[in-house]
Amino acid sequence: MFVCGSCGSTQTKWLGKCPQCDAWGSFTEVPDLPKKSAKNKSGFGTGAGAVFVQAGAVERKPLQRFSTGFAEVDRVFGKGIAEGTVALVGGDPGIGKSTLLLQVLVNFAKAGKTVAYISGEESLDQVSERLERVSPAIPEGLFLLSEQDLGNIMDGLIAQEFDAIVIDSIHSLQHQELDGQSGGISQLKAVTTAVTHWAKQTRTIVFLIAQVTKEGYVAGPKTVEHIVDVVLYLEQVGSENARMLRTIKNRYGDTGEVGFLSMGIQGMQDKADFSTMLVSSLSSEEPGSALGITLQGSRPMVVQIQALVNDSPFAIPRRVVEGVSKNRVEVLAAVIAKKLPRLHIENKDIFVKVNGGITLKDSGTDLALVAAMLSSLTGKNWKDTVFVGEVGLLGEIKPGIAFEQRIKEGKKLSFQSLRSCKSDANIVTLTK
Ligand code: TYD
Ligand code: MG
Repeated sequence: MFVCGSCGSTQTKWLGKCPQCDAWGSFTEVPDLPKKSAKNKSGFGTGAGAVFVQAGAVERKPLQRFSTGFAEVDRVFGKGIAEGTVALVGGDPGIGKSTLLLQVLVNFAKAGKTVAYISGEESLDQVSERLERVSPAIPEGLFLLSEQDLGNIMDGLIAQEFDAIVIDSIHSLQHQELDGQSGGISQLKAVTTAVTHWAKQTRTIVFLIAQVTKEGYVAGPKTVEHIVDVVLYLEQVGSENARMLRTIKNRYGDTGEVGFLSMGIQGMQDKADFSTMLVSSLSSEEPGSALGITLQGSRPMVVQIQALVNDSPFAIPRRVVEGVSKNRVEVLAAVIAKKLPRLHIENKDIFVKVNGGITLKDSGTDLALVAAMLSSLTGKNWKDTVFVGEVGLLGEIKPGIAFEQRIKEGKKLSFQSLRSCKSDANIVTLTK
């Protein structure tokens, strides 16, 4: 059997290009699973059989949830983290994954739990140095291990009981019985499966740190993401110290929820008033940008939208977008073309970018998108204005979802002007 190292799809013969993810030269041969002799009456399986349990007879041990000591991290997990949770935390190198998770363990240990930080990448010296920075007082329940061999780690974990562990990173561990380099697809799967199995049996909380490729995916197959309960990404947004923790998957809470943190000289801190922190780096005197309030998870947050609208040298003008749907931009450009025909936007190239690597999924930022495009077209700058609202096909401005929440967030930023359906009925008045 041949497995694609990029997406994990399988083929019976070697292929140069993966039909599923288009990666080149990504297939490696792995041995087929041994065929087990079927002993069940059905002809399937190995003979153990399955017994159904009556729904009313299921004994349920309620899962306890623990606080990580960070309100913002608890929020992302869904009101704290449930015991037995296996969470994969990805992010660019140097973004603060090791720092944040070490702090979470310190907080657990301070609350009386027994926890372990397992590093396959750094020596105990390096881990201790970081620990000293984030917590001058070292709590009693915190244990450290620098080890890469999965077997040794599992033995250690079975010998001593822990409430929570961090593995930094899954790419650095090695399962000796398997071929392949650490970080390869079969190694990653083996490591994640073994640790997850143990976590479920012992109800231990496990954080797995993962390296991330340039494209923003956890390096290695998506199959690792399927094994774990929670997948999180830590990323920088806006200013240098601002960090956003985002859920990609959560079996115990809402997907898409975000937490706001800031990285300081003594580690990470909660940063609930994130918009205020971002806004100084976002407002600009240059025409071609506008501020809006986006909803990330259930959270309103200020964003800067940049637009460049130029005469096009082509018969069909270009529309290039980043962080927002191209369709949305095309629809809004068509509304501007209809309502403000003298601007001739239909003949122009449009480039739109959402600043800070944020993706807009909600239509409540329509008005800010329109304002950014109009600003580039007319040269008007919106330095002291924030926009909230959805734009309809007739150019009318509507509140959109979570309107009051966004307005409240906008008011916190103490701008001179907050424009929405309350101040403008139609986009035409934005050019007056
Ligand atoms: P780190 O947690 O090692 O990042 P990752 O595990 O995601 O690769 O953090 C790396 C950077 O953060 C490094 O440049 C030093 C800096 N840092 C701080 O700014 N404050 C701190 O308290 C610590 C421990 C690190
Ligand atoms: Mg690290």
